Amino acid sequence: MNRFRRLRKTEALRDLVAETRLSPKDLIYPVFVKEGSDIREEIPSMPGVFRYSIDRLDEILDKVEETGISGILLFGVPDKKDEQGSGAYDPDGILQRAIRSIKSSHPGIILISDICLCEYTSHGHCGLVCEGEILNDETLPLLAKMAVESVQSGADMVAPSDMMDGDVEAIRTALDEEGYEDIPIMGYSAKFASGYYGPFRDAAGSTPHFGDRRSYQMDVRNGREAIRELENDIEMGADIIMVKPALSCLDIVREARSEFRYPLAVYNVSGEYSMVKAAALQGWIDERRVVLENLTAMKRAGADIIITYHAIDVCEWIGEK
Ligand code: PBG
Ligand code: ZN
Repeated sequence: MNRFRRLRKTEALRDLVAETRLSPKDLIYPVFVKEGSDIREEIPSMPGVFRYSIDRLDEILDKVEETGISGILLFGVPDKKDEQGSGAYDPDGILQRAIRSIKSSHPGIILISDICLCEYTSHGHCGLVCEGEILNDETLPLLAKMAVESVQSGADMVAPSDMMDGDVEAIRTALDEEGYEDIPIMGYSAKFASGYYGPFRDAAGSTPHFGDRRSYQMDVRNGREAIRELENDIEMGADIIMVKPALSCLDIVREARSEFRYPLAVYNVSGEYSMVKAAALQGWIDERRVVLENLTAMKRAGADIIITYHAIDVCEWIGEK
């Protein structure tokens, strides 16, 4: 008889043969920075996640540093928006000022700037809009400008989340022209048009005012196309590729892991976070067990890097052992 239970007998034995381990170094914590001062406001649909003004960012950045989390993914929440999303690439806009401030106060944290226009456009779409259409090629120079501004302000990496075709290539070319050949790009390579982004759009104020994002984000029915998107981001110069959301795309994570020899990130998105939090707050599930199980499943599927709102809690839990 095969006796699998021999190695399940004690915690020490189980730990010895564990195939998958979580480390703070795997994790990236998303941070929302808002215009204004003395602000720390909880996002109603994301209990435990806050928007901070620049002057109070230290409260969260100190925690990120203490826990040993590798980096943050930064999102700006501006006061004013316009058709062109000009706040995204304004050197004095909220994002660029926040980057400069974080870089001087916490230089050891990997600072990743999320590159997209939707938080800054009055219509809430990720690209320029003309007669109800989301323009692709006309959006690219603006994304490139946002990336260059972010790096000039001190960002260590840029992560285009717009899902315009050719975004990574346009950004790579622009960064190289400015002498930033050494700045890596993490592509949101396979990003699906997902219902799980709802709470994030509350957090960042980026809900589209008309239509939806299905003309640029991927159709959830398409797994093969996701592999082509990942392949294309690599060809365009992405250094790290990403699958998003995480939990509903573990099949794609597994396939990407065996197909590509590049660092692979997953984004454990807002809706995935909020569902767990809501059930935990009701007392219906054990939050710690469920979160660790979800994140372990992402790594077991093949992810190297996990972007997650649970990052700080997870570090406390794995440190306790
Ligand atoms: C912006 C962006 C979104 C997310 C990351 N960057 C929202 C969207 O595409 O609508 C989603 C993150 C999350 O839900 O946690 N392009
Ligand atoms: Zn966007």
